[in-house]
Amino acid sequence: MIEREAGIGVAAHSTDQLAQGRVQLRSDDRWIPDGMGETCRRAAAEGIVLLKNDGGLLPVAGSATIAVFGRVQQDYFTVGYGSGGDVRPPYRWNLLDALRVSDVVEVDAPLAERYTAWCAENPVEAEPEWGTWPRSHPEMPLSADEVTAVAARTPLALVVIGRSAGEAREQALEPGSFHLTDDERTLLERVTAAFEHTIAVVDTGNVIDLAWTQEYDLDAVLLAWQGGMESGRAVVDVLTGAVPAGGKLTATIAERYEHYPTAGHFGGHEHNEYVEDVYVGYRYFETFAPERVLYPFGFGLSYTSFDLRAPGATHDAGRVVVPVEVTNTGARSGTEVVQVYVRAPHGLLGRPARHLAAFAKTRSLAPGESQTLELAFDLDDVAAYDDAGVTGHRSAFVLEAGGYEVLVGTDVRSARACGTVEVPELRVVRRLSEVAAVRPEHVFDRLVARAGDDGTLAEHRPVPVATVSRRDRVTANLPKPLDRTGDLGITLDDVAGGHANLDTFLAQLDDDELEALSRGDYVMDSALGAPGNAGALGGTVASLRAKGVRALTTTDGPAGIRLATHTSLLPCGTALASTWNPDLVERLNTLLAQEMEAKGSDVLLAPGMNIQRDPLCGRNFEYFSEDPLLTGRMGAATVRGIQHAGLAACPKHFAANNQETNREHHDSRVSERALREIYLRGFEICVTEAAPRTIMTSYNKINGTWGHYHHDLVTTVLRGEWGFTGAVMTDWWLREATDPDFPALRNDAYRVRAQVDVNMPGAWDRDVQSGDGSLLESFARPDGITLGELQRTARNVLRLVLSNPRPA
Ligand code: BGC
Repeated sequence: MIEREAGIGVAAHSTDQLAQGRVQLRSDDRWIPDGMGETCRRAAAEGIVLLKNDGGLLPVAGSATIAVFGRVQQDYFTVGYGSGGDVRPPYRWNLLDALRVSDVVEVDAPLAERYTAWCAENPVEAEPEWGTWPRSHPEMPLSADEVTAVAARTPLALVVIGRSAGEAREQALEPGSFHLTDDERTLLERVTAAFEHTIAVVDTGNVIDLAWTQEYDLDAVLLAWQGGMESGRAVVDVLTGAVPAGGKLTATIAERYEHYPTAGHFGGHEHNEYVEDVYVGYRYFETFAPERVLYPFGFGLSYTSFDLRAPGATHDAGRVVVPVEVTNTGARSGTEVVQVYVRAPHGLLGRPARHLAAFAKTRSLAPGESQTLELAFDLDDVAAYDDAGVTGHRSAFVLEAGGYEVLVGTDVRSARACGTVEVPELRVVRRLSEVAAVRPEHVFDRLVARAGDDGTLAEHRPVPVATVSRRDRVTANLPKPLDRTGDLGITLDDVAGGHANLDTFLAQLDDDELEALSRGDYVMDSALGAPGNAGALGGTVASLRAKGVRALTTTDGPAGIRLATHTSLLPCGTALASTWNPDLVERLNTLLAQEMEAKGSDVLLAPGMNIQRDPLCGRNFEYFSEDPLLTGRMGAATVRGIQHAGLAACPKHFAANNQETNREHHDSRVSERALREIYLRGFEICVTEAAPRTIMTSYNKINGTWGHYHHDLVTTVLRGEWGFTGAVMTDWWLREATDPDFPALRNDAYRVRAQVDVNMPGAWDRDVQSGDGSLLESFARPDGITLGELQRTARNVLRLVLSNPRPA
């Protein structure tokens, strides 16, 4: 990765390409769409989670003077590292500058000047090597006397703690990363001892250890996340109450890292066993270890108080409807997020004590005002997957008999029962087929909940292993080829105009054209796209372009558009999800789509949809949550926002890409049940609700098979079960392999058989601009890649190109 990531290279672009409109740089390099800054600011502010507010210290009273400590006030982490954060924003608001321009509060000027001078003398490294970015910055030393001297000028202090992590850069279980440094502890000790009131602001993309928020004498704690280019102004909005605090946690914060069920099963070099099975995050803690939770999933305070009235749940034709009246009982305006959970009977499968089934956010309610929300969900959507056959229905989603308790609250812990839906006898919700199960030689014990006399018991049982033959499954479903016609002069524009159908166009293509559609233009920063792009696909060769197949430009995502030009820097994925406001996320991405059009991106490599399995995963900041429903809804909102005017979103990384350590080689060993209920579920919601036009596979293996070769996940599940009709692309660069079931196939042929359509950026070696010949070498040989498969993949890609009506 290093060579390409040292900076976004800017290739020479010919005037010919510019004239063709492929390279669309606005002359005003810093242009962003109207309303983008305000919407980023709003989203970043709505995502800030108020964890503590003793005595109602926040919002700070007008005209207060705040003594701001911590060098991050200036060197603010606005986003995490790597492709998911590497955009060049037109500006970034740090906290100090945002406070300085506030007309509500003042900053203690001498202290601020001292930090400014010290930061200038001790700058952070400007361009660290790829993957070696700082997880935190050294703190400015201040003696107890110096702190006390500042406290003599104002009673109110604010301490900012900053952290970052990213791609190929896990968060580490050490001071300066997951834990505070000694210097930070000393600062907190001195400030809380000297000042009457202290606010802590945590600027991070990952959950970090927050036990210290209860150890020091802090009045208020804001978990501000990384808010993108508007970070500082968003924090000030919440501090001053211009935007009332209302964000909610999207992952559980445990007392200690060791309490997470994944501890000891994360970061493995060669593989990780997902021993916790479906008990990820709150599903684990609420079932087995509620006492280990510091701040529960869904939690977040507000500046006012709310009363919830949920008279009951009605159940009709499988739909459960839960009306909830929310009344603002406090003295300030605010919003509340109502969350509906289900507690399913353990039955034979064993179930988590809570399962998020629906959520909704109120509008801003004035004191005394009420709003009735109607939350609804399909009971089928809380079914469990029987991958072991214990219910007699192997490979099916089932609702076991018993009472399904419906709980309503404003976080997972406080949710209270408001009704029960009875399922008189076991019901099979969906019969599926076994996919991607654990290999027999990799069996391990997984956690299972069982009803005991005094509550839930934890058991460990061997995970079910694979029993189906992939070879038979593939062979039975090989597509029929179209008879080749040779070039009839039909163009893709003829298809777009309704004068020819796609298959007539497709039947004209020769081997080389079919091959060219199944890969990108070999390199990042393709000359076929705007400078700084991630690669181009579609019309990668002249003969395809002559037939009207234009090249589509891909760009990272998700924090903005990663190009050489300036583009908006959005709040990180976790911040956006913490708003629990899909409408706002959709609006924001609609603006981003305008920016894509103006700056020449056709496919945004976003949203990042992996589950936050463990707080140390470096890319958690790009992802939304530990919960698949929230992940799926946020992903769908992102896709709906982006996919205007033919632009495409590309949810990633499909699937179980839950760590950065040895990310291109390690194997996520996980039961089919956990895959289907947790790791695939968010993607499923996104695909079925928002129909993304592309999707990206993951680097890692899933039960022994790399994401970019995974026929079960891509053909059987994504396309077969969920009806995905778009193009599937690889994550950037592939691992070489021979298909174990069809030894005639290797590399690109193995991939195309799985319907992973496009190898991105296209080359097999980062230093060359060519393929390795692997796609066509087995063509028409026994067990080799077939014409039908080549055409099927080409069709998937052409459909994507057709959906983008921009001029070639
Ligand atoms: C990342 C992807 C990214 C791609 C292109 C990969 O290293 O894992 O998320 O979209 O690079 O930059």
